[in-house]
Amino acid sequence: MTSELSPIDKAKFVAAKQATEYVKSGMKVGLGTGSTAAWLVQCLGEMVRDEGLKIKGVPTSSRTGQLARDVGIEVITLDEARWLDVTIDGADEYDGELNLIKGGGGAHLQEKVVATASDRMIVIADASKKVDTLGAFPLPIEVIPFGMRTTQALIEETLISQDVLGRSVTQRMVGGDPFVTDEGNFILDLHLKRIGNARQLSLILNQIPGVVENGLFLDICDVVIVGHGDGKVTVRDSAENDGAEIHFNVLDDTNIFADMND
Ligand code: 5RP
Repeated sequence: MTSELSPIDKAKFVAAKQATEYVKSGMKVGLGTGSTAAWLVQCLGEMVRDEGLKIKGVPTSSRTGQLARDVGIEVITLDEARWLDVTIDGADEYDGELNLIKGGGGAHLQEKVVATASDRMIVIADASKKVDTLGAFPLPIEVIPFGMRTTQALIEETLISQDVLGRSVTQRMVGGDPFVTDEGNFILDLHLKRIGNARQLSLILNQIPGVVENGLFLDICDVVIVGHGDGKVTVRDSAENDGAEIHFNVLDDTNIFADMND
């Protein structure tokens, strides 16, 4: 069964599997969005079914909510939960200080609200997401539909004074139509190539009327778990070992993939 997964899926799976170590019965858990987070939701669903794990999940998108219900996880709203023990989510980029770009799946608004309302945020990713400096991945900005072109023009003007390498802005589309978020908004992708001062950029973007939230997650993530195609994982936990990396081989746990493919 292991051989049926591509190296990238294996990497995402082992990162997700390792992240389940942080989830205990009784916890309220933020459930991220994207292909890596989907592996996590499946792993947790299996633990609910087979091991009696009792958790309440707060999904960060309608997609994740549907998947969580499908695999048997009890789903509650953030307002019902108020505060979460942990949120586990994917990322599009992470740097050495565990700052992130998120929103490749267009869910960064709910993801940021949920992660910020959690004791800990854990990111699960494959090794391709590691960067020295954020910005190669286009930075998603959620904007309200009203006056969207004006908001875009204001963003473009703002970028002139920012320490970035690229300044083109495109609207995210799906099959010829604008991509619409769960909140009914649009996404503008900022092709910045390199973000010199992420903190300043994040503050300035969020001050523009019409901008709801940008995809920079600064000082929110506590742990990054990176999966590799050979089944190894690397954990970087800011609260332990001075943030040094710890290496595990998740494949030592035999038959791990066979379970997932039953
Ligand atoms: C969705 C996200 C995702 O977590 C991010 O795009 C990573 O996705 P994947 O795990 O599929 O690479 O931010 O808004």
